[in-house]
Amino acid sequence: MPDSKNILSEEKLGILYLTINRETKLNALNFATLTEIREIFTEVSDNKDIKAVIITGSGEKAFIAGADISEIADLNELNARKFAENGQEIFSMIENCHKPVIAVVNGFALGGGCELAMACHMRVAVASAKFGQPEVNLGIIPGYGGTQRLTYLIGRGKANELMMTGDMIGADEAKALGLVNHVLPTKEDAMAKAEEIIKKIMSKAPLAIGMIVDCVNSVFVPDEDGYQTEANSFARCVKSGDYKEGTSAFLEKRKPVFKGA
Ligand code: COA
Repeated sequence: MPDSKNILSEEKLGILYLTINRETKLNALNFATLTEIREIFTEVSDNKDIKAVIITGSGEKAFIAGADISEIADLNELNARKFAENGQEIFSMIENCHKPVIAVVNGFALGGGCELAMACHMRVAVASAKFGQPEVNLGIIPGYGGTQRLTYLIGRGKANELMMTGDMIGADEAKALGLVNHVLPTKEDAMAKAEEIIKKIMSKAPLAIGMIVDCVNSVFVPDEDGYQTEANSFARCVKSGDYKEGTSAFLEKRKPVFKGA
């Protein structure tokens, strides 16, 4: 793993655990932390030993309380656009990662924190977690893809309400809206749930998992024909040994052993 000052990383049994580690600043995302996320996800794609990623925040209080406001209090039009594009690019790396990425949301997921959680493939929250896009309180809007991802996750009316009011919602409401997959009482429970999901995914054919990521994401790319992407991806799957293994194992009434090729 690349050297990280702001992110703790630990790999166990193929799962890379990332902890945003700026607890005294409620894990706010400064530029350096974003750069570390970029470097880590480049490594995740290249490293065959890493099969899945879980992202959480340090401590009990916050997942990520947003972009670091001390770094965005003095932007101009040009660097504001670059700031947004940089964050969007990095969060797209998470969203497009061919290995499953789950956010374990252990507290405040505000602004860029909610946006990062939404870029992950799934979200498991602790019951005390709070979600929101409070940028409007600062005279700005979400800039790391939040206007888009929140809208497709929870629909236009609710997305408008959350972004225009800047209100926070609790984990149960977030689950009812479709923003969160599961809500668990404690961080340990939430982590265990994320691990349970990831271990199940890790027992499947990795190429197929990557193809699911591409196809699901293609729904949200306006110029892409998602059905075509699906047909192409389906065809790619059948070129793999894992396809032969999966179908043979079914017919031979045994469990498949996938090799990721
Ligand atoms: N950027 C930079 N620093 C942040 C931060 C952020 N997004 N969110 C929290 N912090 C810092 C605080 O400045 C404070 O630092 P200090 O102890 O050096 O003064 C520390 O984290 C603790 O936060 P504090 O506000 O004292 O905690 P709280 O429990 O009273 O309130 C929040 C928690 C999350 C409600 C509040 O911190 C908040 O509103 N944060 C900003 C959220 C936001 O607008 N995010 C979107 C940014 S675009």
